[in-house]
This record gives sequence, structure tokens and C-alpha cells, in this order.
Amino acid sequence: MLVNASRMLKLARDGHYAVGQFNINNLEWTKAVLTTAQELHSPVILGVSEGAAKYMTGFKTVAAMVRAMDESLGITVPVALHLDHGSYEGAKACIAAGFTSIMFDGSHFAFEENVSKTTELVNLAHDCGLSIEAEVGAIGGTEDGITADGEIADPEECAKIAALGVDFLAAGIGNIHGIYPKDWKGLHFDALERIHAATNHIPLVLHGGTGIPDEQIKKAIANGVSKINVNTDCQLVFAAATVDYCVAGKAAPDPDKKGFDPRKLLKPGYEAIKAKVKERMEVFGSIGKAQ
Ligand code: 13P
Repeated sequence: MLVNASRMLKLARDGHYAVGQFNINNLEWTKAVLTTAQELHSPVILGVSEGAAKYMTGFKTVAAMVRAMDESLGITVPVALHLDHGSYEGAKACIAAGFTSIMFDGSHFAFEENVSKTTELVNLAHDCGLSIEAEVGAIGGTEDGITADGEIADPEECAKIAALGVDFLAAGIGNIHGIYPKDWKGLHFDALERIHAATNHIPLVLHGGTGIPDEQIKKAIANGVSKINVNTDCQLVFAAATVDYCVAGKAAPDPDKKGFDPRKLLKPGYEAIKAKVKERMEVFGSIGKAQ
């Protein structure tokens, strides 16, 4: 059931669990996340970066695929289709294309410009029934070829952006996209506490969910994080399962086994994504929380 993400994240905040945003790249990814959420009775957010949308030929294609799949699979748990790290133009395009939620990432603009663009998009998104996430303090690491240094968000700036009426807020607390370096110092819980207190308990978003130790994930949830983004984790397990299948010779041109059939070739990766999504939902505490 496609919905915006506002209600599911308020319920998560009040119930002290987090909803996973799992980024999608193609049909297999989408089906794996949707069926797992349904089997586990968990709310879920499908994240789509602008690069992934381009790969799938555009926002309209993604929205049409997700809507049709949601219906064809008879998905009854709440599902939000969310733009990840959207540009100003991309956010507008997703509203028009039928997404149910957008993120506007204005963290790389001067603060006043982030405020003015976020304000405009909050009004536009809410007029059309979408939820909106904003960002303060760039999340570090590399995603979709865009690299940023990790920042600790300023609680006062977070309070100002939260007051614009955004539904949930991404605030940097030392988290980064991709694989964490060996000498990573961990999440800054003192910063999280200050941001949580300054933002009137708006649901907070933890980007860079791959590789954060489970105890830190749980502590972050206890301190106001209600949405956790996971992308690289699913890519890693999909790649490993697909490589294993090929290395085992199962994709060989054997006319009897036909292991090269894409539906067979992609199945181990699909199953690996399902297992990873289940594992993360267990840690996030969202299983059985669909309502
Ligand atoms: P990871 O790729 O580190 O899991 O981060 C995902 C993310 O934050 C998407 O916005």
C-alpha cells in the first residue's frame, strides 16, 4: 500500500523503532524489498537516488513500476516511494512523477539557500500529499559518484530547518555513505542528543546505515532516529551471491541446466537481498509494526 512516510515515521518515533529505507536499483531489488516487508509485516521505504532513477530510465518508470508491483503483489504493509538525496529539480520531478515522498538535500548550499529552497519544496510536497525529508550537515562518503566529507550538523540549523515543517530530518552525526574506514570513530551521540532536543523530537534519519555496529544502531534509535538508510549492504550481498553462482560454474552454457537464464542467474542475489533486509529489519525493530 503506497503511502507517504509521515505517519509511519511518527509511529516509529513513538514506538522506539526505526523504519528501514532500502535503496532500489531494478525490478529484482524492488521485489525483494517489497516481498520481505510484506512477509515480516513491516513498514518500509523504497529509496531511489537520482542516479538509480536515471539507470531505470527515469522517475516516471520507477513510479509506474513500484505502483504496479505493489498492486500485483497485493502488498498491504505501508510502503513509501522516496527520492534519496534529491536536487531541487529532481524533487519537483518526483512530485510530478507520482512518488509519495521526497528528500531535498540542500546541505551543500549556503544555509539561507537551503532554507529558502526547502521552504518552497515543503509547501509543494505537502500540497500534493507527499512527505519531505531535509538535510543539515553533509553526510560523508561517496554515493552515486558524489563525495562529501562527513559533518556534524549544527543543532541550531537543524532546529531552523525542522521548523519549516519538514516531516523528518537527516542530520550528520559522523555517519558516512559506503564502507566505513577502519579508523572510523563511530557515531557522535552527544551531537545526536543535542539535535534531538533542539528539533522538538522530529523523526531523525540516519544515512549510511551499512556497517554501523548494531549496538550503535540501537542506541541511535533510542535517541531519536526513526529512519535508517541502507544501500551498500544490499549491493555487497547481491554481488557476492551472484559471483558465487558464477564461480561455481552455474552460469555455464549447459543447454540442460540453463543456469544462464537471467531468472536463475539473478535469484541468489535476490534471495541475498531478502535475507539482508530481514536481518536489518530485525535490528531496527520494525517487524510486525505495519499499521
Ligand atoms: P549506505 O550505502 O552506506 O548504506 O548508505 C545509504 C544511504 O544513506 C542512502 O541515502
